[in-house]
Amino acid sequence: LEISNICARDCHYCGIRSGNDTLERYRMPDDAIMACVHEAVDYRYGTVVLQAGEDYGITREWMAGLVRRIKSETGLAVTLSLGERSDEDLVAWKEAGADRYLVRFETSNRELYDRIHPPLPGIVSDRFALLRRLREIGYEIGSGVMIGIPGQTWKDLADDIEAFRTLDLDMIGVGPFIPHQATPLGYGIDQLRAPEGEQVPNTELMTYKVIALARIACPNANIPSTTALATLNTPTGRELGLSRGANIVMPNLTPKKYRAMYEIYPAKACIDETAADCRACMHRRIISIGREVGSGHGDSPNRNKKRAA
Ligand code: 5AD
Ligand code: FES
Repeated sequence: LEISNICARDCHYCGIRSGNDTLERYRMPDDAIMACVHEAVDYRYGTVVLQAGEDYGITREWMAGLVRRIKSETGLAVTLSLGERSDEDLVAWKEAGADRYLVRFETSNRELYDRIHPPLPGIVSDRFALLRRLREIGYEIGSGVMIGIPGQTWKDLADDIEAFRTLDLDMIGVGPFIPHQATPLGYGIDQLRAPEGEQVPNTELMTYKVIALARIACPNANIPSTTALATLNTPTGRELGLSRGANIVMPNLTPKKYRAMYEIYPAKACIDETAADCRACMHRRIISIGREVGSGHGDSPNRNKKRAA
């Protein structure tokens, strides 16, 4: 559920970056969010992800109240994906009942990361430290990378997969980098490719390979078959992701009127669909490959194993 497309950051890859002034901005009101959350319950989903740009209009208190409300009105697991927020915010939201936090590290190559991910003035962006801290606070942690960022080498990608393992991630989300025309990586100002033969391609096949390798490196992690993959191959991308190592899907719950405003990359899958469409679509796709739709919170087997130990 994409609750706000307002963002303080200016990442060189992302369509909702602050520098994109062609975009109408929105932040969903509480009641609209709660209506979607109850829709998730009706669909028998076990968890809801609240995702937004790094929107400081989403205050510590407001989000804590919202998480409390979701936890008291529903049995859903709550996952947050709200960017690089302060320690105080992250602790308050955990105390309010949030279960999981997602923040991709995007690439483990520090130089490449700094190039495409300008920091906020005076604050160092260290997503590895952030992920370790989230784990310490008690969240299940999810992260991941984009595949085929201009400048990303095979060595970088191998290091990324190694980092999935050393971070002991509960969730690993990967998808192809898709150039967006309103971003530096899309309009040519920042398209520094790696030397010939070293540049990772941003292809569908490469994405399957990374999903498969992530599954081997992290047998117990939740791995979604992502929307970016479905964007490159709408007919069968989700199914092939699930067949090659992914085990979860994240059907979109965002009300239709907001979807087009959350285009982090162009031609994003599910833009013209409703939450009900996506539910039916995912259901059909899962059944079509001989799988069953699971029930429950979808806690990562990784986390369950640790709890039992
Ligand atoms: N192409 C593919 N993925 C992107 N993301 C952001 N911009 C793009 C893009 N142009 C991914 C990032 C981010 C997640 C929410 O979406 O990995 O963490
Ligand atoms: Fe949204 Fe298929 S999941 S249309």
